[in-house]
Amino acid sequence: MEKKIALLKGDGIGPEIVDSAVRVLEAVAAKYGHTFEFTPHLIGGCAIDATGAPLPEETVKGCLASDSVLLGAVGGPKWDTLPGHLRPEKALLGIRAAMELFTNLRPAKLYPALAGDCPLRADIVANGFDLMIVRELTGGIYFGERGMREGKYGEEAYDTECYSRMEIERIGRVAFETAQKRGKHLCSIDKANVLESSRLWRKVMHELATEYPDVELSDMLVDNAAMQLVRNPAQFDVIVTSNMFGDILSDEASQLTGSIGMLPSASLGSTSRGLYEPIHGSAPDIAGKHIANPVATILSAAMMLRYSFGMAAEADDIVRAVDEVLEAGCRTADLAHGAPSMSTEEMTDAILARL
Ligand code: IPM
Ligand code: MN
Repeated sequence: MEKKIALLKGDGIGPEIVDSAVRVLEAVAAKYGHTFEFTPHLIGGCAIDATGAPLPEETVKGCLASDSVLLGAVGGPKWDTLPGHLRPEKALLGIRAAMELFTNLRPAKLYPALAGDCPLRADIVANGFDLMIVRELTGGIYFGERGMREGKYGEEAYDTECYSRMEIERIGRVAFETAQKRGKHLCSIDKANVLESSRLWRKVMHELATEYPDVELSDMLVDNAAMQLVRNPAQFDVIVTSNMFGDILSDEASQLTGSIGMLPSASLGSTSRGLYEPIHGSAPDIAGKHIANPVATILSAAMMLRYSFGMAAEADDIVRAVDEVLEAGCRTADLAHGAPSMSTEEMTDAILARL
């Protein structure tokens, strides 16, 4: 197959980890007889520096003209004091919206080789965990009406959480279908004891449940879910939740795997074109030091092969290679606990050697 892949390397460690993933994709292309054509575009702080805007029009066009998009990370202290609409993070929200990527899949599983890195008690770790967070990505409070105004106590700022039935239904369907392909348990997480938007969320999820009788649906309040994730993560199969709750809970879940440097993500819409990125940020403190963990981005590339290109065998191959390097004891600094560790490039080489 021939595929056009847009590369949004971004800021901080973004270029290093995207370069690693590109090397892996090229190896897979050679092994399986595919051709991947990579086209870089600017996003985030580097785009602000070069063009004045965090998400140049050219970047949006390039992504929409591609078969899929691989993104590193955006942001850094240099751009932290810019007004909201000019911040690098705005570009991330902007490209998700422009590509209509309303689904964000964030898998978190415990690698046996990293069991010792899980911060939980040994008896909890012994049960392992393998969960998938389905996060709504283009609605809710991150996209709601916001502003500044004069209120009861003077100057105030506000953001609003709003979900339409349509938005809940379409993410709900993805979640039920995801659960059908996994352990057939879906936990919908909300704050229905307080929020009106959560009450509609819960109602719609239960209406959908009648169409998916093979999936067992449960509800959980988000505060309880944050606790249950550290008390007994093995209870979860698929989680579906709103944009903000999913953002927060997926960072929590990532730490259970040992390092946020391990978690990939896929952002999908209603076409096969997706955007794939590690869930971690640009880590400006370690940028250019060649110590970033490339695994989350490499696994994101594997998700691209699986979800956008239908290349399941190729994706499985990458996942296997990552499993093997971890089993072999290969570690980047984030997982080395001060012991000697591999550089970004050495870790990538180790994965390539097993492909
Ligand atoms: C993430 C990030 C982004 C988000 C920010 C940077 C806008 O935290 O991908 O989880 O909240 O979605
Ligand atoms: Mn986040």
